[in-house]
Amino acid sequence: MAGEQDRAEGRGTKAWGGRFAKATAPTVEAFTESISFDWRLYRQDLAASIAHARMLGRQGIITAEEAGTIIAGLREIAREIERGEFVFDPGHEDIHLNIEARLAEKIGDTAGKLHTARSRNDQVATDVRLWCRAAIDDLRTRSLDLQAALIGQAAAYPAAIMPGYTHLQRAQPVLFAHHLLAYVAMLERDYDRLGDCRRRTNVLPLGAGALAGVGFPVDPQAVADELAFAASAENSMDAVSDRDFVVELVSVCSLTMVHLSRLAEDVIVWAAGEFGFVELDDAYATGSSIMPQKKNPDVAELTRGKTGRVFGHLQALLTLLKGLPLTYNRDLQEDKEALFDAVDTTQAALVAMTGLVETMVPQPERMAVTATASFSTATELADYLAQQGLPFRQAHEVVGKLVAQCLAAGKSLAQLTAAELAAAAPQLGPDALERVTATAAVAAKDVPGGTAPRRVARALQAAQARLAAHREEASQLEVGHSGS
Ligand code: ARG
Repeated sequence: MAGEQDRAEGRGTKAWGGRFAKATAPTVEAFTESISFDWRLYRQDLAASIAHARMLGRQGIITAEEAGTIIAGLREIAREIERGEFVFDPGHEDIHLNIEARLAEKIGDTAGKLHTARSRNDQVATDVRLWCRAAIDDLRTRSLDLQAALIGQAAAYPAAIMPGYTHLQRAQPVLFAHHLLAYVAMLERDYDRLGDCRRRTNVLPLGAGALAGVGFPVDPQAVADELAFAASAENSMDAVSDRDFVVELVSVCSLTMVHLSRLAEDVIVWAAGEFGFVELDDAYATGSSIMPQKKNPDVAELTRGKTGRVFGHLQALLTLLKGLPLTYNRDLQEDKEALFDAVDTTQAALVAMTGLVETMVPQPERMAVTATASFSTATELADYLAQQGLPFRQAHEVVGKLVAQCLAAGKSLAQLTAAELAAAAPQLGPDALERVTATAAVAAKDVPGGTAPRRVARALQAAQARLAAHREEASQLEVGHSGS
């Protein structure tokens, strides 16, 4: 502890000040501080310190009374922070030292015993893992909310048929619900990836010390149990230097943003006048400062736009880790802003897109008008011919010529006469035209994963059941959390 004289001389107030003869340069203090952003770890830091202190007391490394005093002090600090009374001081660098300094003000020299058998290196790794774990659980819930919104719209419009696109050219009719469920499939993979990432995140680094382990008979398992970690780290050097779990989480965020951005792009296109497949809710659209008639899909555009910054954070993290020698290096402090912003942005985009999807009003009549336009059921005629025994390549050629003929005559496939059909190929009976309606085209795709209504109805049921099971899983985790 620094004495009065040291303080008066502006040195020694640092937790690590013992060997220093000079105060830190103000520019260095400003350059090296992390409290301006890592204050967000306060809950995790306090929870980990409380578990650590309890373990120290139980193991007889400090007395039970000292542990009790420390824990009571930490709990008071938690209340101070929650009430907004705590003053975060850049002079104390980071969240760990800010809390420790306040603890010393509250309970005196006993506060100095908290850092026994611990380093900020295993402490910060523990805090970040706890933060990531909570972020993962939150992201999972929010991504389920978006799944629910998509499923809700799919269930509300089970019969709406729209043109499906490839190359953004009308390709084949599909159920609108089928299109929405494609996004549910993407979000389902994200949910799964988050769970996978959670398993590797949920390992306790405390006990690793600075890098080598600690010289006290600690009980990492007890700390792991208290903090609901599944295990404690196997290698102390890896424990303090590993940030793979941060990269994994930000990479799942990046992929989630890819999915949200693609959905955003679809919604933007659907809301355009030329398509008119959905009407956006006023509460989820914005206007123009000059054009009074405008209603813009800004929520979707910003989702698409914010995707880039999440990718940027992933790139920053990978670059940060590349070439770092073992073990802890101060570079690692740079993980936090990237992590926090990637998670914040993904959470916000999930919430915004959920609202957008929930409130948009599909326009099935508009979809129907274009569902069979641009000869999007031509494949049905080719399939009909192939089913009569004509090799598919020849069938394709025959129908291709019919399309050209219709284009020249300015008519649709449905307007072909029996004579024109028969002239194109003797196998083309008049009943072939029953196949070129949108309804017949979707009904024909009666294969697993296909857009036939009965298949989509089943897929919808499966998605609903999966969603309910995930919600159940999430509520179990909440029960687990509240115990820690
Ligand atoms: N603020 C630091 C970080 O975020 C905490 C660990 C500091 N450790 C050290 N050896 N300087 O990485």
